[in-house]
Amino acid sequence: MLCIPITADTNEKALQDIVQAGGEGHSRLADVIEIRLDYISHPDLERLLSHRPKPIIVTCRPTREGGKFDGPEEARIRLLEKAVELGAEFIDIEHDSIQHFRNRGKSKVIVSYHNFQETPDNLNEIYTRLSNSSADIVKIVTTAREITDNLNVFHLLEEVSRGVLQYAHTACKPVIAFCMGELGQISRILAPKYGSYLTFGSLAVGKESAPGQLTAKEMREVYHIDKIDKETALYGLIGNPVGHSMGPYIHNAAFGELGINAVYLPFKVENLKEFVQGFKSLNVQGYSVTIPHKEAIVPHLDGLDPLAREICAVNTVVNKAGKLIGYNTDSTAALRELEEGLGDLKGKKVTLIGAGGAARAIAFGLKQREAKITLVNRTNEKARRLAQELGCHYKRFEDVTKVDREVLINTTSVGMYPRTDDIPVPLEVFRPGMWVFDIVYNPLQTRLLKEAAERGCHTLDGLKMFLYQAAQQFELWTGHPAPLQLMERVVRERLIQQKPK
Ligand code: ATR
Repeated sequence: MLCIPITADTNEKALQDIVQAGGEGHSRLADVIEIRLDYISHPDLERLLSHRPKPIIVTCRPTREGGKFDGPEEARIRLLEKAVELGAEFIDIEHDSIQHFRNRGKSKVIVSYHNFQETPDNLNEIYTRLSNSSADIVKIVTTAREITDNLNVFHLLEEVSRGVLQYAHTACKPVIAFCMGELGQISRILAPKYGSYLTFGSLAVGKESAPGQLTAKEMREVYHIDKIDKETALYGLIGNPVGHSMGPYIHNAAFGELGINAVYLPFKVENLKEFVQGFKSLNVQGYSVTIPHKEAIVPHLDGLDPLAREICAVNTVVNKAGKLIGYNTDSTAALRELEEGLGDLKGKKVTLIGAGGAARAIAFGLKQREAKITLVNRTNEKARRLAQELGCHYKRFEDVTKVDREVLINTTSVGMYPRTDDIPVPLEVFRPGMWVFDIVYNPLQTRLLKEAAERGCHTLDGLKMFLYQAAQQFELWTGHPAPLQLMERVVRERLIQQKPK
């Protein structure tokens, strides 16, 4: 179930938001609505509860548990008891206040625990303690400081679902559990897979009641949480940052189109080793890999496809019966786009900016096509080493304007949203008639391409390469042809929405 919290600061605005969240005259948003009384200075409970388009949770969170209510405890408890009298379906009360709460009527009592610092290791004990109270439902909300913190929550949820909790004295009570913060977003999306009683989504951007809350619309329309169940297969993007990636939009749309029970998640990963090891327990079926992990992931995999082995960089991982196998679809994708634009690449003088995983993939493909490659990189030494490995030229970054070139390719992330004013090369590089290809696709027209076009260059943006590499990875994962047109439409729509006004 998806719950929308109402965080308006007046009764009037809260009533409007309740109507909107309830979905009357709108598309379905909330299954349950949470009224946060602590956000409203003088809550009028009669009015707020008089019209209930959906079951209501009444919460009045004190400041000590991350809420806004700083009045006397008795007044707070009285408000909640009044909500019971008025027939609220659920009351949320903090674990350290439950003993003061006597009048529970027909309302279901959610006993909640919040931790804004961390995700402790003893979630089972906390669950047991809370479920040994008079709770009907237990709520445990922690903060993810590492992406692997989500695993503790999933583990708890699974044990509760299977009714095998080690310390529980009573039958397992339903639990709501997830991690807050950007790193905890995946636990909000996967709540239905692991059996959380409900999950939260905000009514709109800016109306979140806790850090990391996605909008209800995004939860439903991008991640299809209504379709997520125990059997849903997991896929995702390993990168850092991942917040502006189009991966979740295109892959989830493609899964939806083909009726495949799977979800694709953004994994913001700092410690790659811990992530890959830890997430094996979730049996993730496939990963996309992006900046800065394309090369670094290689030693953590169980095997490599021959092309990825030669390139020594991976942008796609496939789980084959528990073994993680690395592939590279960047190389074929970039070459396909370049050849569609330029035709035969044999003998073409190409300057490649960058010396990371994407540069390796493209340089490798260009070498096979017998192009004349010169590598240039911010860290000269890395370009020198890669050039030596590939048997091509390299130039110091300061000398980029001195390279004899017909084609210039940016393989770095410079110019990517939101730093769209950045450009990876000085403007003197451009010559009329030269081809300039930028692998950045967000925005489509990067500053590099704009300046190049103004100086008479032909340009290729990163969209096709992005789509081709994604389509090939989708095919490797699912064995089905990717719906390329749909994927392109989704990216274009998103890019337009994201454009600064
Ligand atoms: P990926 O594997 O996705 O290619 P990577 O291995 O981190 O990611 O490589 C990123 C490339 O972009 C590198 O060539 C990097 O230059 P350094 O080797 O000097 O780090 C380049 N890059 C990233 N940010 C840059 C910036 N602000 N200016 C110039 N080059 C940058």
